[in-house]
Amino acid sequence: MIDATELQPAGVDRFPVRAPIPPARLDALSRDILALKKKLNAVILAHNYQVPEIQDIADFVGDSLGLAQQAARTKADVIVFCGVDFMAETAKILNPDKIVVLPDKDAGCSLEESCPAGKLAELQQTNPNFWTIAYINCSAAVKALSDVICTSGNAVRIVNAAPKDRDILFVPDENLGSWVTEQTGRKMTLWRGACYVHVEWTHGAITRIRREFPDAPVVAHPECTRAVRMLADEVCSTEKMVEWCRRTQSKQIIIATEAGMLHRLKKECPDKEFIPAPTDNCRCNECKFMKMNTLEKLHDCMKNLAPRIELPKALLDRARLPIERMLEISARPLENAG
Ligand code: 13P
Ligand code: SF4
Repeated sequence: MIDATELQPAGVDRFPVRAPIPPARLDALSRDILALKKKLNAVILAHNYQVPEIQDIADFVGDSLGLAQQAARTKADVIVFCGVDFMAETAKILNPDKIVVLPDKDAGCSLEESCPAGKLAELQQTNPNFWTIAYINCSAAVKALSDVICTSGNAVRIVNAAPKDRDILFVPDENLGSWVTEQTGRKMTLWRGACYVHVEWTHGAITRIRREFPDAPVVAHPECTRAVRMLADEVCSTEKMVEWCRRTQSKQIIIATEAGMLHRLKKECPDKEFIPAPTDNCRCNECKFMKMNTLEKLHDCMKNLAPRIELPKALLDRARLPIERMLEISARPLENAG
């Protein structure tokens, strides 16, 4: 099986090991996927946390913002979304007439789970002056209740562009929200959600790895806690990590985000060594939801055109507005970004 193995125990290696797909099977699957892509006029979009063999066959690999931008401009008839459900839903919201498939329909997200739409609606009723900014890691129903969406790649810009006379309600990631407040000085009411992967990194574990590699800078995702972010040389989205690592003179870089990112970074910067930041329990950290997608499931979802993302029209229409608002703010020249 493709995804049968676990992370190696602490101390053995710094990288997760998965049973490799036998070369003949990999070739056959890849050939079939490319043929199906042509036949369906499909585009394969993959998040930076996907397994290497999916990243390697995708048309575009990127962060949530890049993937949403690609989905907004694609001419393909079918969008094959290798990521988690809220990302595929975003693609569907932007393309209600296209078929959007996701290799594993159970690929969710702990942040999305932390913020049920009913509870958000209740909180919104307590203050009619709320301007709700929802991190893209939320359900379509939460998007539909929001004024604007953001990703980790544009959250600072989106908050800076918020009307000054409104009280910002930022959902669902408390850590991203507190980082944005540090960056912008804008006070916000924060929903108390968290990414179960990124909160695993601790001040102690990062301090220990820094001691082991004293010359290596630390790059961390803003979903990490403040205790970890304050030890980082750079805090940014997964795509900005690629840019930062390309530019830095350092040859070794410690990466505090989901382990799939290492494959992308190694491809983009082959002359550098990427050290996964350990947690207190393991040598690196994976998102179980992101890792539900495999090359086999990617193949099957294209062959069967299922599982498909289907959402009620009224929800699609209501959720589109805040996503389009985000894309419009992100496309503004920087001096007019607000
Ligand atoms: P990025 O948008 O930075 O890729 O983050 C998505 C995500 O789910 C992080 O856990
Ligand atoms: Fe959600 Fe965290 Fe997985 Fe990203 S890494 S998809 S935020 S659970």
